Amino acid sequence: MVREKDSVWLGETTEKVKRKMRAVSERSCRKIPYTSINGVHDDRSGADKSFSEDLGIYWWTNGFWGGMMWMMYHETGEQRFADIARFSEEKLDYCLQDFYGLHHDVGFMYLPTAVADYRLTGSPDSRRRGLHAANILAARFNPAGKFIRAWNDREDAKEDRRGWAIIDCLLNIPLLYWAGEETKDPRFKHVATMHADTVMKHFVRADGSVRHIVEFDTETGEMIRDYGGQGYETGSSWTRGQTWGMYGFLMSYFHTGKQEYLDTARKIAHYFMANIPEDGLIPVDFRQPAEPFWYDDTAGAIAACGLLELSKTAGEYEKDIYYRAAVKLLKALCENHCDFSEDTDSILLKCTGSYHEREHEYPIIYGDFFFMEALFKLKGNDYFMW
Ligand code: GLY
Repeated sequence: MVREKDSVWLGETTEKVKRKMRAVSERSCRKIPYTSINGVHDDRSGADKSFSEDLGIYWWTNGFWGGMMWMMYHETGEQRFADIARFSEEKLDYCLQDFYGLHHDVGFMYLPTAVADYRLTGSPDSRRRGLHAANILAARFNPAGKFIRAWNDREDAKEDRRGWAIIDCLLNIPLLYWAGEETKDPRFKHVATMHADTVMKHFVRADGSVRHIVEFDTETGEMIRDYGGQGYETGSSWTRGQTWGMYGFLMSYFHTGKQEYLDTARKIAHYFMANIPEDGLIPVDFRQPAEPFWYDDTAGAIAACGLLELSKTAGEYEKDIYYRAAVKLLKALCENHCDFSEDTDSILLKCTGSYHEREHEYPIIYGDFFFMEALFKLKGNDYFMW
């Protein structure tokens, strides 16, 4: 898919990433990292029994490192990467057994680990894990509002989150599409499409931007209100949320062929492209104030994946627009925010979880995951995870 003029840059960049991954994977072969501290991966693989979603083994990002290893296995054919990937997959069994801390992000956790393993190797244990996770996701569906409940309530919670759905879930529901395709049971697809239809109706604004959180009445299913969530404020435009919407609707289109999903993915993509800053570096929120200004490299990387996939669905003229926007985002990251050194563990340096958290602009594992995914897509050798 890469164009002639970008092929040298792409070749050099993928080689740097692969060299780095060979070194990092050995250092982190018994970890499930989320971030790096002073250049060294942290580790979330301990079986933290509390429901604190952001500390231990239940953390929603715990599938990405395994997924990066499966990408490397697919790219190189080297068994060592599969062995390292399986460390994450086996550690995540604790969650399936203990259950209580699991949330809608089972898609992010089990598609890049168990389902990737099954798709690449046919492992029956991995298939069972994937189907188990899909059943947990389907069971979070609220038929009154036709949405999948996102998060559980925290033990010390002020909010009641039973009626909350979030845009991010569009990248979890491919787990349901996979389970439906695998078992030939359409229940899974029906749950996924009913959720996607609700999101299309209540999350996507007229200008093509998307909301992060929408709350529904859990008995009547009516929409109550929306929240700014991880963005700047209610009514603002959290950039990673825009990318979950763009890439997520595209995935629903790929799995169902429903034209409305493709149209919605394009609408969000056009909004996103119109807001890419001149330098190609993406802020946390397109409507954040000038000060304090924070970057979120994860949004640039995820958007590049979505735009590259969109370019495959478009005619000549639009194909070029999507391709050029994706390459602009990736080159901006490469030139400004990437660390390709083999002595440190992370690649993207300026990722941000949410606008109002205490820390900003630090490495986050899914930034590196989607950056790699985008590079391999451009190269024409990606392993399709979703
Ligand atoms: N899915 C949570 C996030 O994007 O931060």
